[in-house]
Amino acid sequence: MQHPTAMQLEGKVAYVTGAASGMGYEIVSLFAAHGATVALADVQEGRVTEAVEKLRGDGHEALGYRVDVTDRATVEESVRDVERRTDGIDIVVNCAGMAHEFTPIEKIDDGLYRRVMDVNVDGVFHVCRAVVPALKERRRGSIINIASVVAVRPRPGLTAYVAAKNAVIGMTKSLALETAADGVRVNCIAPGAAETPMLNQFIGESNDIAKGREMYVNSIPMGRLADPGDIARGALYLASDNAGFVTGEVIAIDGGRSV
Ligand SMILES: NC(=O)c1ccc[n+]([C@@H]2O[C@H](COP(=O)([O-])OP(=O)(O)OC[C@H]3O[C@@H](n4cnc5c(N)ncnc54)[C@H](O)[C@@H]3O)[C@@H](O)[C@H]2O)c1
Repeated sequence: MQHPTAMQLEGKVAYVTGAASGMGYEIVSLFAAHGATVALADVQEGRVTEAVEKLRGDGHEALGYRVDVTDRATVEESVRDVERRTDGIDIVVNCAGMAHEFTPIEKIDDGLYRRVMDVNVDGVFHVCRAVVPALKERRRGSIINIASVVAVRPRPGLTAYVAAKNAVIGMTKSLALETAADGVRVNCIAPGAAETPMLNQFIGESNDIAKGREMYVNSIPMGRLADPGDIARGALYLASDNAGFVTGEVIAIDGGRSV
């Protein structure tokens, strides 16, 4: 059997949401370094433009889109455009997400609850629905959804976020079964607390950030936060042919937190 070479994504096209920041940006950078053409989809238009320029400056193929994953139309337009400009999407990473500060359920208002569901659940659904027909037709593809360790090992005060990330895991498993016979793989990464701008949103800007981070670090057996690169390397595995027989799986990258 031939093993995959060092450039694991040569000739592949990856569509990544939430690509302007944190894990998403690290994922497009690593995928591009492995030869992929990357399409960055994020609601932060200015940061998408900057990231695309940086990637192109480094000699990579990159496309950028202002996409709000809660808006089905912007998702579908960007997917159509990537399909038109390339040989077709091979890899999809649903990384866009939003946190909410630790809050007792009775203090979570309808607006916040709806927004957490819209971004974290509906957003993933919109993207999956938009990309699946072409992946099935080509009989290849890897979809990677970013959930969270709290889906499997919750913390109190995150009920809306935990519900949303469990929906992502359920969607992953269901879609994996639905598309397996068509050659499409669908998997999930459950990251532990990670060194990205989102971490402070969980802690809450008005709270003691240093103390909040210490609480996180103390709860992780390996004694540190996840680096966005830890998550990107997991995504590279799932995107590549190395994971050719892996589908419906949830991979924890959390320094042992979920054990
Ligand atoms: N940071 C953590 O501790 C942690 C832990 C577990 C899981 N996660 C998950 O990892 C993923 C990546 O988060 P991150 O830590 O890199 O955070 P981040 O805040 O650095 O990046 C999130 C990105 O998503 C984008 N985004 C938000 N709403 C969007 C929308 N409606 N449409 C399009 N883009 C949108 C943001 O603009 C941002 O670029 C998220 O799904 C998050 O829930 C994060």
